Amino acid sequence: QTGNLAPTPPMGWNTWNTFQTRIDEPLLKGMVDAYVSSGMRDAGYKYFVLDDGWMTMERDASGNLVADPKKFPNGMKALADYVHSKGLKFGIYNCAGWKTCAGYPGSRGHEYQDALLYASWGVDFLKYDWCNTDSLNAREAYITMSAALKATGRPIVFSLCEWGNHKPWQWAGGVGELYRTTGDITANFDKDKHMGTWSALSVMHILDQQVNIRQFNGPNHWNDPDMLEVGNGMSYSEDKAHFSMWCMLSAPLAAGNDLRKMSDQTKSILTNKEVIAIDQDELGIAAYKKALPDSIEVWVKPLKNNDVAVCFLNRSAKSQKLDIKWADLNLEDKTTGLNISFNTRQYAARDLWTKTATGTTKGSFKQEIPMHDVVMLRLTAK
Ligand code: DGJ
Repeated sequence: QTGNLAPTPPMGWNTWNTFQTRIDEPLLKGMVDAYVSSGMRDAGYKYFVLDDGWMTMERDASGNLVADPKKFPNGMKALADYVHSKGLKFGIYNCAGWKTCAGYPGSRGHEYQDALLYASWGVDFLKYDWCNTDSLNAREAYITMSAALKATGRPIVFSLCEWGNHKPWQWAGGVGELYRTTGDITANFDKDKHMGTWSALSVMHILDQQVNIRQFNGPNHWNDPDMLEVGNGMSYSEDKAHFSMWCMLSAPLAAGNDLRKMSDQTKSILTNKEVIAIDQDELGIAAYKKALPDSIEVWVKPLKNNDVAVCFLNRSAKSQKLDIKWADLNLEDKTTGLNISFNTRQYAARDLWTKTATGTTKGSFKQEIPMHDVVMLRLTAK
């Protein structure tokens, strides 16, 4: 393995947010076709990932995992081949525990055997969950699976999913390329969804959890604030704000909507190349947050060639009139030597959603921002 499998945040699509375990070959082949015809592939999305629910409930007599023959009558290699034939990469799921979260056989005690099986199918990406792990040591369990994947000789991106419980930002670099930092997301802007014993987290809740770990993000070791809920029920503004903020964070972008039934609005969000370019900027620096009055937050992200992305986020439930001095957004980070000063440098601003030039960074910036919406700018030094 090269150790350079994810120089920029991985982009793809995952079955879970829309289909949970209700997946099968005809559905997924149709999704692969839609991945291409919708323009998602051309916008830079690459991985096609099956989450929980692809297996039979038991291993076979040799201890191998088996693709559910009712869901996948032609086996998993056939689906992987189909994904590859469309110029995409194939991802699959398992769990560090003895069972997955949905109760299918987990990899515990079978790590090397499972890794070889995945490699024989042509798997390019493994998401590795954390249910039914009892007293397992997280770091050691993920290192074991990481080593098993490396031993196959096939480059396989490793996606850790222990929900941030064991501070993976402190140790997951070199173990895998991305690691979840929180519990599961839900398609709600700022209200968690309570589900009995646990809560699915709102987009804003997850965003808040990224603020203090931003410095751990970087090439080949990405903080993963969970998959996208764009197109899954929030308003257009909310979807736009969610997508913008994930790009400001340099987060992995895993779409989780039904690609066969995307509205034009959803498509215009997920395939906005200028916004995606902020996410994929090769410096891989997660945005810094500054809070302004009236529930407006401004996030500032340094980009290559001294460009800067700025995103104004209106979290309040009413429209807000923004009026700020550019000099109030000056940013200095003593630990990295970063210094962005609007006093000494002027930039030209471009609005990445309206796709128009919006003046320079002289004096102040005034604009009305609707509720739960953003204004996202790319600043280019003049
Ligand atoms: C928990 C993970 O956080 C989810 O993303 C999903 O993979 C489910 N488990 C699958 O059971």
